[in-house]
Amino acid sequence: MKKQLVLLLVIGILFLSFQSFSPETPSEGVFPDEISSILKNSCYDCHSTATGSEKALKAIDFEQWDQYRLSKQIGLLGDIGKVVEEGKMPPGKYLEKKPDRKLSESQIKLLADWTRQEADKLMQAD
Ligand code: HEC
Repeated sequence: MKKQLVLLLVIGILFLSFQSFSPETPSEGVFPDEISSILKNSCYDCHSTATGSEKALKAIDFEQWDQYRLSKQIGLLGDIGKVVEEGKMPPGKYLEKKPDRKLSESQIKLLADWTRQEADKLMQAD
């Protein structure tokens, strides 16, 4: 009886650890939700495969993010932080037409903080 209990316990532990080691269920996006929703709202019109412009996609295509090399991602993270903090993106002309796409102060901070954290993380993974 005791042996069976131990066996059950061992099986249970194996099962649990197997579950936690198995690859996480792929989430939809490569970005955290709050970042993703900011990007979708303010950047995807130009920087996503479906709706973007050639020029903007050459700079970044957020939908292709996971295809970029690590070094490219790190470089782009720096660029993203910079352009949003300097108010260069989204472009002023676009905001004249779509003022609701303007980033709020808190969105800018969130994005900029995230780009730094993410770049640090990627550099350690390298
Ligand atoms: C109206 C279209 C449009 C929107 C919206 C837009 N971009 Fe851009 N973006 C462009 C274009 C066009 C370029 C390439 C030419 C340039 O640098 O102006 C660009 C370039 C960039 C670059 C590269 C800049 C550099 O210095 O090389 C970054 C980074 C960037 N965008 C980030 C963003 C982010 C982040 C957002 C959302 C907060 C965003 N963009 C929204 C059109 C857009």
